[in-house]
Amino acid sequence: MNRLAVLLCLVWPAFGQVAGGHHPPQSAGEYARVLDDAKREEWQKPDEVIRALALRPQEVIADIGAGTGYFSKRLARQAGKVYAVDIDADLLKMAAQDAPQNMVTVLAAPDDPRLPQGGIDTVFFCDVLHHIGNRPEYYKKLARALAPGGRIVNIDFQKRQLPVGPPPSMKLSEEQVVAEFRAAGFRLAKKFDFLPCQYFLVFERKNRKTGTGTQCPILFEKIPAVEPQLVVDATQSQNGCRRTAASYHATRKQPPKHLFPR
Ligand SMILES: C[S@@+](CC[C@H](N)C(=O)[O-])C[C@H]1O[C@@H](n2cnc3c(N)ncnc32)[C@H](O)[C@@H]1O
Repeated sequence: MNRLAVLLCLVWPAFGQVAGGHHPPQSAGEYARVLDDAKREEWQKPDEVIRALALRPQEVIADIGAGTGYFSKRLARQAGKVYAVDIDADLLKMAAQDAPQNMVTVLAAPDDPRLPQGGIDTVFFCDVLHHIGNRPEYYKKLARALAPGGRIVNIDFQKRQLPVGPPPSMKLSEEQVVAEFRAAGFRLAKKFDFLPCQYFLVFERKNRKTGTGTQCPILFEKIPAVEPQLVVDATQSQNGCRRTAASYHATRKQPPKHLFPR
C-alpha cells in the first residue's frame, strides 16, 4: 500500500475526535468542512472506489448516510439514479446543491432508509454503519429494498487507532460487519484493499444461484445465459461462473474485451 496515502489519511482533520475524548460534529457546517475537505480525496480515492464498483449506466444506487453528497454526486455521474439518503435535513440541502438531475435526496428515519421496495441495485455506505442502531432489523429493510441480484457495499474505517473518524471503541471491525451481514443472509462477494484507512466490502444475497444451481465463489459471477460461448479458458471460468470485471480492475488489469464488451 502507498505509504504517502497512509500518511495523508493520518493527517486528515480528526473529526469527532478531540484530545482525550470524542465529540460528534456540532453542526452540519462542521460535518461538511470535514467531509468535503480537499485532502480527503487523496486517501478516500473516490474515483478508484467508483471504478471498482463497475457500475452499469442504468444502475439504481442508494447512498445511505450520504452527508453532503460526496459520493452521491460522483455516483450519479456514472449511474442511472442515486438516492442520497440521510437523517440530517441540513446535510441533504447541501447534497442537493449542484447535484446531477438523476440524484434525489431522501430524508430517512434513523431506523428506516425509506427506500422503494425491490428498486435498488446497489446500497452504498461510507463511514455510516456504526451510526445505525439495531442493525439486524435495519438489514431486513435493506434486503427488502434490494432488486434481485442487488448488492450492499460497505466502506468503513479500520477498527484501530487513527486520528480520523470515531475512536476505535465506536468503530465496527471488518470481521464484525462480515458476521452481521452473514447472519442477515448475505455473503462477502468481493473485497478491495486499496484504501489505506478503510475496508471496502461488497455483499450479495447468499442464495444468488448460478444456472447450474451452484453459488459463484468470491470474485466470480454467473455467466450470462446468452453468452456462454464467450468464455474461452479455464482461468476465467469455472462451474458456470466467471471472473468479474471488477476483479480484473482490482488487480489493475483490463478485463478481456470479448468477455465484457461494454
Ligand atoms: C461520517 S458521515 C459520512 C458521510 C458520507 N457517507 C461520506 O462518505 O462523505 C455519516 C453520515 O451518516 C448519517 N447518518 C447517521 N445515522 C444515520 C442513519 N441512521 N441513517 C442514515 N444516515 C445516517 C449522518 O447524518 C452523516 O451524514
